[in-house]
Amino acid sequence: METIDYKPEAAKKALTYIQKGHAVGLGAGSTIAHLVKELAAVPALRESITVATASFNTRLLLQEYGFNVRETAAVAQLDLHFDGCDQFDRQLNALKSGGGVHTLEKLLAAMATRFILVGDGSKYVQKLLPTVPVVIELIPDALSFVQQALQRLYPDARLQLRLSNKKDGAVITERGNLLLDIWFTAFPPVAEINPQLKTIPGILETSLFYQMAHEAIIAGKDGVTVVSP
Ligand code: 5RP
Repeated sequence: METIDYKPEAAKKALTYIQKGHAVGLGAGSTIAHLVKELAAVPALRESITVATASFNTRLLLQEYGFNVRETAAVAQLDLHFDGCDQFDRQLNALKSGGGVHTLEKLLAAMATRFILVGDGSKYVQKLLPTVPVVIELIPDALSFVQQALQRLYPDARLQLRLSNKKDGAVITERGNLLLDIWFTAFPPVAEINPQLKTIPGILETSLFYQMAHEAIIAGKDGVTVVSP
């Protein structure tokens, strides 16, 4: 059966939020790539906005189209931040890190006056489900210590070091860190996950975006809808 890609429709709606002069953050993934292309087709916007991104691929695409891309280190505040995700619930808690850049994505989301998730309806669930892992970025020296701490904290969870598809090695993030997927059999209460994980030394950030998004643009067979928590 042919599956319809609704992401371009979600990206078209996202474009309508952006005004001249805005400082805009962009995450990673194919939905965001659609948004970059939509923006690039409106020269008056493309030339007047500044953009920060968490993703190497998104940055390359932005540069190809001549956007004014700022160094994240020089940015403290954004008008809007758009990002895709792998799953999100009715409160707009989101699980991310398909691209392994969730630490920077979360930083940009925290800078934004409005953080808007953009995605297709297949990712929208009543309650987050453990069909998607919670991913942690950790410093390499902490690998064994963090694995031991996690196994004690969540005895039923399966831990999987993110490995490269192309070579026989671990994925190393742009900042030289590792990614560890935590596969829960059932999620602990979602409010407790980040506080528990972030007290473990060596863990930089988790891919659970808890109570961060202000809105979500969802595209599906019935059209495009915008929801708030
Ligand atoms: C990157 C992400 C992506 O936003 C997520 O994987 C969704 O990607 P796509 O828009 O290609 O479906 O979380 O860290």
